[in-house]
Amino acid sequence: MGRPRVCPFLHRHISMLKKQNYKQQADKITQWIDDYFNKLESLPVKSQVKPGDILSQLPEEAPINGEGFSEIIKDLDKIIVPGITHWQHPNFHAYFAANSSVESVLAETVTAAIGAQCMIWDTSPAAAELEERMMEWLRIAMGIPDTFEGVIQDTASTATLASIITAREVKTNFESNEIGVPQNLRVYCSSEAHSSIEKAVGICGIGKRNLIKIAVDDQMRMIPAALENQIIQDISEGFVPCCAIAAIGTTGTLAVDPLDEIGKICEKYKVWLHVDAAYAGTALLLAEYRWMIKGIERADSFVFNPHKWMFTNFDCSVYFVKDVKCLTRVFEVLPEYLKTSTRGLVNDYRDWGIPLGRRFRALKLWFVMRSYGISGIKETLRKHLALTQLFAKSLLKNKQFQLLFDPFLNFTCFRFVPEGNFTEEELNELNEKLLRAINSTGKAFLTHTKVNGKYAIRMLIGQTYVEETHVEKVLGVIYKEIENIV
Ligand SMILES: Cc1ncc(COP(=O)(O)O)c(C=O)c1O
Repeated sequence: MGRPRVCPFLHRHISMLKKQNYKQQADKITQWIDDYFNKLESLPVKSQVKPGDILSQLPEEAPINGEGFSEIIKDLDKIIVPGITHWQHPNFHAYFAANSSVESVLAETVTAAIGAQCMIWDTSPAAAELEERMMEWLRIAMGIPDTFEGVIQDTASTATLASIITAREVKTNFESNEIGVPQNLRVYCSSEAHSSIEKAVGICGIGKRNLIKIAVDDQMRMIPAALENQIIQDISEGFVPCCAIAAIGTTGTLAVDPLDEIGKICEKYKVWLHVDAAYAGTALLLAEYRWMIKGIERADSFVFNPHKWMFTNFDCSVYFVKDVKCLTRVFEVLPEYLKTSTRGLVNDYRDWGIPLGRRFRALKLWFVMRSYGISGIKETLRKHLALTQLFAKSLLKNKQFQLLFDPFLNFTCFRFVPEGNFTEEELNELNEKLLRAINSTGKAFLTHTKVNGKYAIRMLIGQTYVEETHVEKVLGVIYKEIENIV
C-alpha cells in the first residue's frame, strides 16, 4: 500500500484560510485571556470537580470534520475552566508557586508563533545566543561564580537527572553510557530532598536502593557529619560514593542545607555535588540571601526554576554547570543529519541535556528581565517577603496557632492547636480537616507537609500580583473555618 493521497491544492486552501483568520481569532483569544485575568479572583482557586467530570464531557473520538473556533472557545469556558486549578490566582498558596506575568505570557505567544525547534545553533541562532546571554544575566544577577555556565532545561527534574547522569559518567570514567552501570554507586541527599532525586537515581540505572537519605537537624537541614559517616561506611563496604545533592529550599519546609560544609566533604571524597535550589534559588537575586550558596564554588552543578518564583511561566528551569565539556561529553551524540559547519564555534544546546528538541524558552526570560529589570523583580520578591511577615504576625495574634519554624522567605508553616487536651493524632486530624475546609471554600488553596510526624499547613505567598488584601482574605478564611471544625 502506498501513502494515502492528499490533494495538495485542497490542503493549501484550508491552511491559508486559517492563516488569514489569525487576527480575528487571536483577538478573541486576547479578549478571553483579558477576561480570564479580570475574573480570576472570582473563580475557585482549587478546581472543585470530581474525578471523571471532565472526561465525561469529552467525545470519545476526535471529530471527523473541523469545528468552528467559537464552538471551541465556548467549550473552553464550559468544560475546561471548571477543571482548572488556578495557579495564577493571588490566593494560590499551595505547593510552590508557578507564577507567571503578563510579559511572560506575551513572550510565550511569540514563541508559539515562531514555533522554532531550537536544538542546535543552526536551527535558530537567535535562540541559542539569547539563551547564552540570558544565562549570563542570571548568573551575574544571582552571584553565581563565573566558573559556571548555564543552559535552560524544561524542569528541575530534568536538570537533576542530567546532573546525576553526569556524576555517574565521571565516576565510571565515562563508561556507563557505553557498557552499563555498575551496581555499587551511591548517591546522597537529605531525608527532606525532593522526589525528583529518587526518580533520577532510578532512571539513570544507579538504582533507588543506592540513594541514601541523610538525617536532618531540627531545622530539617542535612547533617554534614552524618553524610561523612555514611560515605566512610559505604567505602568500607565496597560502595563507590558518586554524587550528593544539597537542597537550597526543601519542598516541605524550605530548609537550606549547609552547602559549604557539604561541599568540603564532597571535595574530600571526590563526590560530585549538585545543588537543588528549584524554588528558593530566585531569592539569590536579593544580596541578603546569598549566604544560602556560601560554598557554591565547590559544587559541580546548580538548578533553579524561574518558572516557580520569577514571573516566567512554566516551563523554564536554569541549570548551571562548572564543566561544560564534561556535560557535553556525556550527552553528545552526533548523527550525520545534525552535523553543521558551525560546530565547535557556537553552543549547540542539544548536547547540554537529555532531549534533542528544545523550545525557545529564553525569549520569555528576556521579556521578563527587560520589562521588570532586576530591580523590579527584587521589589516584587521583597513584597512577597513582607506579606509573609504580615501573614505570620497576624496569624499568631490568635493564640491557637503555632509556627513550626520562623517564617522564611515567602513561606510559613503553621498548625492549629486549640486549647484542650489533644493527642498528636487528634491534632493531625484536626489540621487535615482544617486544610480541607479552607480549600473547599474555593477562596484559597494551601497544602500541607509533615514535620517529624506533625501535620502542618504550608502557606506560600508567591503570586505575581498578590496584595495585602489577599493575605487578609486568606486569614479571614482560616479564622472562619476553625470555628466550623472544632
Ligand atoms: C526542591 C525542589 N526540587 C525539584 C523540584 C521539581 O521541580 P520541577 O517540577 O521543575 O521538576 C521541586 C518542585 O517543587 C522542588 O520543590
